[in-house]
Amino acid sequence: MPASQFDPDAFPDGWGHRHLLDLERLSTAEIRLLLDTAARFKEATDGCRRKLSVLTGRTIVNLFFENSTRTRTSFSLAARRLGADVVDFTASSSSLSKGESFIDTARNLEAMGVDAVVVRHATPGTPHLLAQHLSVGVINAGDGPHEHPTQGLLDIFSIREHRGDLAGATVGLVGDIAHSRTARSNLWGLLKLGAKVILCGPPTLVSLRWKELGVEVSHDLDAIVPRCDVLNLLRIQFERQNTRPFPSVREYAHLYAMTRERLKRAKKDLLILAPGPINRGVEVTAEVADCPQSLILDQVTNGLAVRMGVLWLTCGGRSVAGDAAARRPPARAV
Ligand code: CP
Repeated sequence: MPASQFDPDAFPDGWGHRHLLDLERLSTAEIRLLLDTAARFKEATDGCRRKLSVLTGRTIVNLFFENSTRTRTSFSLAARRLGADVVDFTASSSSLSKGESFIDTARNLEAMGVDAVVVRHATPGTPHLLAQHLSVGVINAGDGPHEHPTQGLLDIFSIREHRGDLAGATVGLVGDIAHSRTARSNLWGLLKLGAKVILCGPPTLVSLRWKELGVEVSHDLDAIVPRCDVLNLLRIQFERQNTRPFPSVREYAHLYAMTRERLKRAKKDLLILAPGPINRGVEVTAEVADCPQSLILDQVTNGLAVRMGVLWLTCGGRSVAGDAAARRPPARAV
């Protein structure tokens, strides 16, 4: 669809942020707006396959300081499908190695006329720091164990696509909750949309203190499986752990992997999610990862829709597509 035929008024309005830093500080209405915008983009691009040149002339920088397959590729593709230019910044071959600071690096990229920076970093709060120093949009693509807002959104989008409203749904987040940014973003988004959240894993990775946020905590996967409408199976983040939180991976898998046997005791319409990368045989068996209830690859497709929506909202898509510098709400940092 050429930009001239693209009707920004057909999209929901009400986004007042320049950045997307986390889901914790967004309102329920803002989370719904992000999800609704993603749904419109999925539809308008024929399932995220077709180009829709509504960000032509805009430039997005991917600033990734941790490895990524899905998020980095997905942001690049989403930007290109909307007609934007993409710069993939590679930290290892940059002038960071000559002593340039992270902020100076980002400000130099900004000076080249980019419109948004997508950042992944091992240090929690890095996107928030960038947002204080840049005047362009900053999108958090994962900051250490803190948050991964577009992952939370695409997980929730995938659940919503299959069962409609999240209110009343029981969603189990299983695995390494202590180190999982995906768990945190899911938790905030799910609670705001009215879902019941159960955090499940070994006591060393799932503290009882999470209950203070209004979630249930369980250390017994077999006890919660029959009650769940959705299970989101999280990877053990060995790279963020100083000591091993359980005796062996084999013992962990025995107690917490989603298996065919456990699936037999689940609701018939249980949805299986995993943010990826998945470790087959650890948090989920191959049979369950590939079973009909698994949304794992749907999540990846929906990641494109979510990121198209986020880029469009944070890069001033409405003004590109039509009138509307005047209508666009004043940008404010979250
Ligand atoms: N789910 C996710 O963030 O995957 P990547 O690390 O491959 O981006």
